[in-house]
Amino acid sequence: MLSRSAARALSSQSRQFSSSAARQTKVAVLGAGGGIGQPLSLLLKQNKLVTSLSLYDIRGAPGVAADVSHIDSQSEVKGYPADQLDQALEGVKVVVIPAGVPRKPGMTRDDLFNTNASIVRDLAAAVARSAPEAHLLIISNPVNSTVPIVSETLKKAGVYDPRRVFGVTTLDVVRAARFLSEVTGAHPDECKVTVVGGHSGSTIVPLLSQTAHGKAVKGEVYDKLVHRIQFGGDEVVKAKDGAGSATLSMAYAGAKFTDALLRGLSGEKGVVTPTFVKSDLFAKEGLEYFSSNVELGPNGVEKIHPVGPLSAEEEKLLAACLPDLKKNIEKGNAFAAQS
Ligand code: NAI
Repeated sequence: MLSRSAARALSSQSRQFSSSAARQTKVAVLGAGGGIGQPLSLLLKQNKLVTSLSLYDIRGAPGVAADVSHIDSQSEVKGYPADQLDQALEGVKVVVIPAGVPRKPGMTRDDLFNTNASIVRDLAAAVARSAPEAHLLIISNPVNSTVPIVSETLKKAGVYDPRRVFGVTTLDVVRAARFLSEVTGAHPDECKVTVVGGHSGSTIVPLLSQTAHGKAVKGEVYDKLVHRIQFGGDEVVKAKDGAGSATLSMAYAGAKFTDALLRGLSGEKGVVTPTFVKSDLFAKEGLEYFSSNVELGPNGVEKIHPVGPLSAEEEKLLAACLPDLKKNIEKGNAFAAQS
Protein backbone atom coordinates (compact mmCIF):
# COMPACT_ATOMS: atom_id res chain seq x y z
CA MET A 1 0.00 0.00 0.00
CA LEU A 2 1.43 3.38 -1.00
CA SER A 3 1.56 6.20 1.53
CA ARG A 4 -0.57 9.21 0.60
CA SER A 5 2.50 11.34 -0.23
CA ALA A 6 4.02 8.58 -2.39
CA ALA A 7 0.72 8.19 -4.25
CA ARG A 8 0.58 11.98 -4.79
CA ALA A 9 4.16 12.01 -6.10
CA LEU A 10 3.42 9.12 -8.43
CA SER A 11 0.29 10.73 -9.79
CA SER A 12 2.07 14.04 -10.34
CA GLN A 13 4.87 12.17 -12.11
CA SER A 14 2.42 10.40 -14.39
CA ARG A 15 0.64 13.72 -15.10
CA GLN A 16 3.98 15.22 -16.07
CA PHE A 17 4.73 12.21 -18.21
CA SER A 18 1.43 12.35 -20.08
CA SER A 19 1.65 16.10 -20.69
CA SER A 20 5.23 15.80 -21.96
CA ALA A 21 4.23 12.75 -24.04
CA ALA A 22 1.53 14.89 -25.63
CA ARG A 23 4.22 17.41 -26.49
CA GLN A 24 6.48 14.91 -28.28
CA THR A 25 7.41 16.60 -31.52
CA LYS A 26 9.58 14.85 -34.00
CA VAL A 27 10.89 17.14 -36.72
CA ALA A 28 12.58 15.96 -39.92
CA VAL A 29 14.90 17.98 -42.13
CA LEU A 30 15.10 16.65 -45.70
CA GLY A 31 18.25 18.06 -47.29
CA ALA A 32 19.97 18.27 -43.91
CA GLY A 33 23.47 17.96 -45.38
CA GLY A 34 23.21 21.15 -47.43
CA GLY A 35 24.08 24.79 -46.98
CA ILE A 36 20.72 25.52 -45.36
CA GLY A 37 20.12 22.07 -43.91
CA GLN A 38 23.18 22.04 -41.64
CA PRO A 39 22.69 25.35 -39.80
CA LEU A 40 18.93 24.75 -39.78
CA SER A 41 19.50 21.42 -38.02
CA LEU A 42 21.79 23.19 -35.56
CA LEU A 43 19.13 25.78 -34.76
CA LEU A 44 16.36 23.20 -34.46
CA LYS A 45 18.50 21.20 -32.04
CA GLN A 46 18.32 24.23 -29.75
CA ASN A 47 14.52 24.49 -29.93
CA LYS A 48 12.90 23.14 -26.76
CA LEU A 49 9.70 22.28 -28.63
CA VAL A 50 11.63 19.77 -30.77
CA THR A 51 11.93 16.48 -28.92
CA SER A 52 13.47 14.48 -31.73
CA LEU A 53 15.32 15.48 -34.87
CA SER A 54 15.47 13.26 -37.92
CA LEU A 55 18.09 14.34 -40.47
CA TYR A 56 17.97 13.03 -44.03
CA ASP A 57 19.94 13.80 -47.18
CA ILE A 58 21.17 11.87 -50.18
CA ARG A 59 24.65 12.90 -48.94
CA GLY A 60 26.13 13.33 -45.49
CA ALA A 61 23.16 13.36 -43.11
CA PRO A 62 24.56 10.78 -40.62
CA GLY A 63 27.68 12.94 -40.22
CA VAL A 64 25.67 16.12 -39.64
CA ALA A 65 23.50 14.21 -37.14
CA ALA A 66 26.49 12.86 -35.20
CA ASP A 67 27.91 16.37 -34.99
CA VAL A 68 24.69 18.15 -34.01
CA SER A 69 23.76 15.38 -31.53
CA HIS A 70 26.59 16.44 -29.17
CA ILE A 71 24.88 19.73 -28.40
CA ASP A 72 23.62 19.78 -24.84
CA SER A 73 19.91 20.11 -25.39
CA GLN A 74 17.30 17.49 -24.55
CA SER A 75 16.27 16.32 -28.05
CA GLU A 76 17.65 13.20 -29.67
CA VAL A 77 19.09 13.35 -33.19
CA LYS A 78 19.38 10.63 -35.80
CA GLY A 79 20.81 10.81 -39.30
CA TYR A 80 19.63 8.73 -42.24
CA PRO A 81 21.50 7.89 -45.46
CA ALA A 82 20.06 8.09 -48.99
CA ASP A 83 18.26 4.73 -48.90
CA GLN A 84 16.44 5.36 -45.60
CA LEU A 85 13.98 8.12 -46.45
CA ASP A 86 10.92 6.24 -45.21
CA GLN A 87 12.62 5.36 -41.93
CA ALA A 88 13.63 9.00 -41.49
CA LEU A 89 9.98 10.03 -41.72
CA GLU A 90 8.52 7.55 -39.22
CA GLY A 91 6.51 9.28 -36.50
CA VAL A 92 7.46 12.73 -37.78
CA LYS A 93 5.06 15.60 -37.11
CA VAL A 94 6.85 18.41 -38.97
CA VAL A 95 8.93 18.01 -42.13
CA VAL A 96 11.14 20.87 -43.26
CA ILE A 97 12.40 20.60 -46.85
CA PRO A 98 15.48 22.53 -47.95
CA ALA A 99 16.54 19.81 -50.44
CA GLY A 100 17.52 20.80 -53.96
CA VAL A 101 19.92 22.98 -55.90
CA PRO A 102 20.46 26.68 -55.07
CA ARG A 103 20.94 29.59 -57.52
CA LYS A 104 24.19 30.67 -59.14
CA PRO A 105 24.82 34.26 -60.33
CA GLY A 106 22.47 35.26 -63.16
CA MET A 107 19.87 32.62 -62.32
CA THR A 108 16.29 33.28 -61.25
CA ARG A 109 14.53 30.97 -58.82
CA ASP A 110 12.47 29.69 -61.72
CA ASP A 111 15.69 28.42 -63.37
CA LEU A 112 15.85 25.86 -60.56
CA PHE A 113 12.48 24.42 -61.49
CA ASN A 114 13.66 21.52 -63.65
CA THR A 115 15.89 20.03 -60.96
CA ASN A 116 13.96 20.87 -57.82
CA ALA A 117 10.44 20.03 -59.03
CA SER A 118 11.09 16.30 -59.13
CA ILE A 119 13.13 16.31 -55.89
CA VAL A 120 10.28 17.96 -54.04
CA ARG A 121 7.65 15.74 -55.66
CA ASP A 122 9.49 12.57 -54.64
CA LEU A 123 10.02 13.79 -51.08
CA ALA A 124 6.34 14.74 -50.79
CA ALA A 125 5.35 11.28 -52.04
CA ALA A 126 7.51 9.74 -49.30
CA VAL A 127 5.88 11.97 -46.68
CA ALA A 128 2.46 10.84 -47.97
CA ARG A 129 3.57 7.22 -47.47
CA SER A 130 5.38 7.41 -44.18
CA ALA A 131 4.11 10.50 -42.34
CA PRO A 132 0.75 11.30 -43.95
CA GLU A 133 -0.31 13.61 -41.12
CA ALA A 134 2.87 15.65 -41.03
CA HIS A 135 3.07 19.39 -41.63
CA LEU A 136 5.30 20.24 -44.60
CA LEU A 137 7.44 23.36 -44.65
CA ILE A 138 8.81 23.98 -48.12
CA ILE A 139 12.04 25.95 -48.48
CA SER A 140 13.19 24.50 -51.83
CA ASN A 141 12.83 26.98 -54.67
CA PRO A 142 10.96 28.09 -56.63
CA VAL A 143 8.59 28.13 -53.62
CA ASN A 144 5.77 29.61 -55.76
CA SER A 145 5.81 26.36 -57.77
CA THR A 146 7.13 23.77 -55.30
CA VAL A 147 4.22 24.35 -52.88
CA PRO A 148 1.66 23.51 -55.63
CA ILE A 149 3.75 20.44 -56.59
CA VAL A 150 3.79 19.19 -52.99
CA SER A 151 0.06 19.86 -52.59
CA GLU A 152 -0.85 18.04 -55.81
CA THR A 153 1.38 15.10 -54.87
CA LEU A 154 -0.36 14.79 -51.50
CA LYS A 155 -3.76 15.08 -53.22
CA LYS A 156 -2.88 12.20 -55.55
CA ALA A 157 -1.96 10.10 -52.51
CA GLY A 158 -5.27 11.05 -50.85
CA VAL A 159 -3.67 12.68 -47.80
CA TYR A 160 -3.81 16.39 -48.66
CA ASP A 161 -4.83 18.81 -45.94
CA PRO A 162 -4.23 22.43 -47.02
CA ARG A 163 -3.79 23.44 -43.39
CA ARG A 164 -0.56 21.45 -43.29
CA VAL A 165 1.42 22.72 -46.31
CA PHE A 166 3.48 25.92 -46.01
CA GLY A 167 5.83 27.76 -48.31
CA VAL A 168 8.49 29.35 -46.13
CA THR A 169 8.65 33.05 -47.04
CA THR A 170 10.08 34.10 -43.68
CA LEU A 171 13.40 35.21 -45.17
CA ASP A 172 11.55 37.99 -47.02
CA VAL A 173 10.00 39.06 -43.70
CA VAL A 174 13.38 38.92 -41.95
CA ARG A 175 15.04 40.94 -44.73
CA ALA A 176 12.24 43.50 -44.76
CA ALA A 177 12.65 44.17 -41.02
CA ARG A 178 16.43 44.38 -41.27
CA PHE A 179 16.51 46.60 -44.37
CA LEU A 180 13.81 48.92 -43.02
CA SER A 181 15.77 49.27 -39.79
CA GLU A 182 18.88 50.19 -41.78
CA VAL A 183 16.96 52.93 -43.59
CA THR A 184 15.22 54.37 -40.52
CA GLY A 185 17.75 53.70 -37.77
CA ALA A 186 15.01 52.03 -35.68
CA HIS A 187 15.53 48.63 -34.02
CA PRO A 188 14.51 45.71 -36.32
CA ASP A 189 12.00 44.59 -33.65
CA GLU A 190 10.11 47.83 -34.31
CA CYS A 191 10.31 47.35 -38.07
CA LYS A 192 8.22 44.19 -38.51
CA VAL A 193 6.79 44.22 -42.03
CA THR A 194 4.05 41.98 -43.40
CA VAL A 195 5.23 40.61 -46.74
CA VAL A 196 2.54 39.13 -48.97
CA GLY A 197 2.31 37.47 -52.40
CA GLY A 198 4.92 34.86 -53.22
CA HIS A 199 8.65 34.26 -52.85
CA SER A 200 10.52 35.61 -55.87
CA GLY A 201 11.24 39.06 -57.30
CA SER A 202 8.09 40.93 -58.24
CA THR A 203 5.84 38.47 -56.43
CA ILE A 204 7.31 39.63 -53.09
CA VAL A 205 5.09 42.49 -51.88
CA PRO A 206 6.18 44.24 -48.66
CA LEU A 207 3.39 46.20 -47.00
CA LEU A 208 5.51 49.01 -45.58
CA SER A 209 2.54 51.36 -45.24
CA GLN A 210 1.14 49.14 -42.47
CA THR A 211 4.05 49.88 -40.12
CA ALA A 212 4.77 53.16 -38.39
CA HIS A 213 8.40 53.29 -39.57
CA GLY A 214 7.64 51.97 -43.05
CA LYS A 215 4.90 54.51 -43.66
CA ALA A 216 7.39 57.33 -43.30
CA VAL A 217 9.65 56.04 -46.10
CA LYS A 218 8.92 57.84 -49.36
CA GLY A 219 10.16 58.53 -52.89
CA GLU A 220 13.44 57.12 -54.12
CA VAL A 221 14.32 55.68 -50.70
CA TYR A 222 11.01 53.76 -50.75
CA ASP A 223 11.62 52.46 -54.28
CA LYS A 224 15.13 51.30 -53.40
CA LEU A 225 13.92 49.65 -50.18
CA VAL A 226 11.18 47.72 -51.97
CA HIS A 227 13.63 46.64 -54.66
CA ARG A 228 16.10 45.48 -52.00
CA ILE A 229 13.43 43.42 -50.20
CA GLN A 230 12.32 41.86 -53.49
CA PHE A 231 15.81 41.14 -54.78
CA GLY A 232 17.85 40.86 -51.55
CA GLY A 233 18.59 37.23 -52.37
CA ASP A 234 20.60 38.40 -55.41
CA GLU A 235 23.02 40.32 -53.13
CA VAL A 236 23.94 37.03 -51.46
CA VAL A 237 24.13 35.03 -54.69
CA LYS A 238 26.46 37.68 -56.17
CA ALA A 239 28.65 37.94 -53.07
CA LYS A 240 29.00 34.14 -52.85
CA ASP A 241 30.11 34.25 -56.47
CA GLY A 242 28.94 30.83 -57.62
CA ALA A 243 29.06 29.11 -54.23
CA GLY A 244 25.28 29.24 -53.74
CA SER A 245 22.58 31.47 -52.29
CA ALA A 246 21.46 32.48 -48.80
CA THR A 247 22.06 29.64 -46.36
CA LEU A 248 22.70 31.12 -42.90
CA SER A 249 19.98 33.79 -42.99
CA MET A 250 17.67 31.21 -44.56
CA ALA A 251 18.43 28.68 -41.83
CA TYR A 252 17.60 31.39 -39.28
CA ALA A 253 14.36 32.20 -41.10
CA GLY A 254 13.47 28.50 -41.48
CA ALA A 255 14.06 27.88 -37.77
CA LYS A 256 11.99 30.95 -36.93
CA PHE A 257 9.03 29.74 -38.98
CA THR A 258 9.33 26.19 -37.63
CA ASP A 259 9.29 27.58 -34.11
CA ALA A 260 6.15 29.61 -34.91
CA LEU A 261 4.42 26.51 -36.25
CA LEU A 262 5.47 24.39 -33.25
CA ARG A 263 4.14 27.07 -30.89
CA GLY A 264 0.84 27.09 -32.77
CA LEU A 265 0.67 23.29 -32.76
CA SER A 266 1.30 23.23 -29.02
CA GLY A 267 -1.75 25.44 -28.44
CA GLU A 268 -0.18 28.88 -28.08
CA LYS A 269 -2.67 31.53 -29.16
CA GLY A 270 -2.01 34.50 -31.43
CA VAL A 271 0.89 33.08 -33.43
CA VAL A 272 0.60 35.02 -36.68
CA THR A 273 3.18 35.16 -39.48
CA PRO A 274 3.19 35.45 -43.27
CA THR A 275 3.44 32.14 -45.13
CA PHE A 276 2.57 30.89 -48.63
CA VAL A 277 -0.47 28.61 -48.31
CA LYS A 278 -3.60 27.46 -50.10
CA SER A 279 -5.69 30.61 -49.95
CA ASP A 280 -8.92 32.02 -51.32
CA LEU A 281 -7.82 35.65 -50.98
CA PHE A 282 -7.20 36.01 -54.74
CA ALA A 283 -9.25 33.06 -55.98
CA LYS A 284 -11.24 35.46 -58.19
CA GLU A 285 -7.97 36.35 -59.95
CA GLY A 286 -7.34 32.62 -60.44
CA LEU A 287 -4.72 32.17 -57.69
CA GLU A 288 -4.92 29.04 -55.54
CA TYR A 289 -2.03 29.96 -53.24
CA PHE A 290 -0.97 33.23 -51.67
CA SER A 291 1.19 34.38 -48.82
CA SER A 292 -0.41 36.64 -46.24
CA ASN A 293 -0.50 36.75 -42.46
CA VAL A 294 -1.66 33.36 -41.22
CA GLU A 295 -2.63 32.40 -37.69
CA LEU A 296 -1.06 29.07 -36.76
CA GLY A 297 -2.84 26.69 -34.39
CA PRO A 298 -3.11 23.04 -33.30
CA ASN A 299 -4.07 21.96 -36.85
CA GLY A 300 -1.63 24.19 -38.74
CA VAL A 301 -3.36 26.99 -40.63
CA GLU A 302 -6.02 28.33 -38.26
CA LYS A 303 -6.99 31.56 -40.00
CA ILE A 304 -5.85 33.37 -43.13
CA HIS A 305 -5.81 37.12 -42.65
CA PRO A 306 -6.67 39.45 -45.53
CA VAL A 307 -3.90 41.70 -46.86
CA GLY A 308 -5.41 44.76 -45.16
CA PRO A 309 -5.28 48.39 -46.30
CA LEU A 310 -2.79 49.10 -49.11
CA SER A 311 -1.13 52.32 -50.26
CA ALA A 312 -1.33 53.31 -53.94
CA GLU A 313 2.25 52.00 -54.43
CA GLU A 314 1.34 48.67 -52.82
CA GLU A 315 -1.74 48.34 -55.04
CA LYS A 316 0.65 48.62 -58.00
CA LEU A 317 3.07 46.09 -56.53
CA LEU A 318 0.21 43.68 -55.94
CA ALA A 319 -1.09 44.18 -59.49
CA ALA A 320 2.39 43.26 -60.79
CA CYS A 321 2.64 40.26 -58.42
CA LEU A 322 -0.62 38.50 -59.27
CA PRO A 323 -0.04 37.51 -62.94
CA ASP A 324 3.56 36.37 -62.27
CA LEU A 325 2.52 34.38 -59.23
CA LYS A 326 -0.35 32.82 -61.16
CA LYS A 327 2.09 31.63 -63.86
CA ASN A 328 4.43 30.13 -61.24
CA ILE A 329 1.54 28.29 -59.58
CA GLU A 330 0.24 27.00 -62.90
CA LYS A 331 3.72 25.76 -63.80
CA GLY A 332 3.85 23.75 -60.59
CA ASN A 333 0.36 22.36 -61.13
CA ALA A 334 1.17 21.41 -64.74
CA PHE A 335 4.31 19.55 -63.64
CA ALA A 336 2.40 17.65 -60.98
CA ALA A 337 -0.40 16.78 -63.41
CA GLN A 338 2.01 15.18 -65.91
CA SER A 339 4.12 13.41 -63.27
P1 NAI B 1 22.71 22.98 -51.13
O1 NAI B 1 23.05 22.49 -52.49
O2 NAI B 1 23.79 23.50 -50.27
O3 NAI B 1 21.96 21.85 -50.32
C1 NAI B 1 20.92 21.11 -50.85
C2 NAI B 1 20.96 19.73 -50.23
O4 NAI B 1 19.87 18.99 -50.76
C3 NAI B 1 22.25 18.95 -50.57
O5 NAI B 1 22.86 18.50 -49.38
C4 NAI B 1 21.74 17.80 -51.42
O6 NAI B 1 22.48 16.59 -51.24
C5 NAI B 1 20.32 17.67 -50.91
N1 NAI B 1 19.45 16.94 -51.81
C6 NAI B 1 19.38 16.97 -53.18
N2 NAI B 1 18.45 16.11 -53.60
C7 NAI B 1 17.91 15.53 -52.50
C8 NAI B 1 16.91 14.56 -52.29
N3 NAI B 1 16.26 14.00 -53.31
N4 NAI B 1 16.61 14.22 -51.02
C9 NAI B 1 17.26 14.77 -49.97
N5 NAI B 1 18.22 15.69 -50.12
C10 NAI B 1 18.55 16.06 -51.37
O7 NAI B 1 21.55 24.10 -51.32
P2 NAI B 1 21.02 25.16 -50.23
O8 NAI B 1 21.79 26.40 -50.35
O9 NAI B 1 20.90 24.47 -48.94
O10 NAI B 1 19.55 25.47 -50.84
C11 NAI B 1 18.53 24.51 -50.83
C12 NAI B 1 17.27 25.05 -51.48
O11 NAI B 1 16.72 26.13 -50.71
C13 NAI B 1 17.48 25.62 -52.88
O12 NAI B 1 16.43 25.20 -53.70
C14 NAI B 1 17.42 27.11 -52.66
O13 NAI B 1 17.02 27.81 -53.81
C15 NAI B 1 16.37 27.20 -51.58
N6 NAI B 1 16.35 28.46 -50.86
C16 NAI B 1 15.13 28.91 -50.42
C17 NAI B 1 15.00 30.10 -49.77
C18 NAI B 1 13.66 30.56 -49.31
O14 NAI B 1 13.56 31.71 -48.88
N7 NAI B 1 12.62 29.77 -49.33
C19 NAI B 1 16.18 30.94 -49.50
C20 NAI B 1 17.42 30.36 -49.93
C21 NAI B 1 17.48 29.17 -50.60
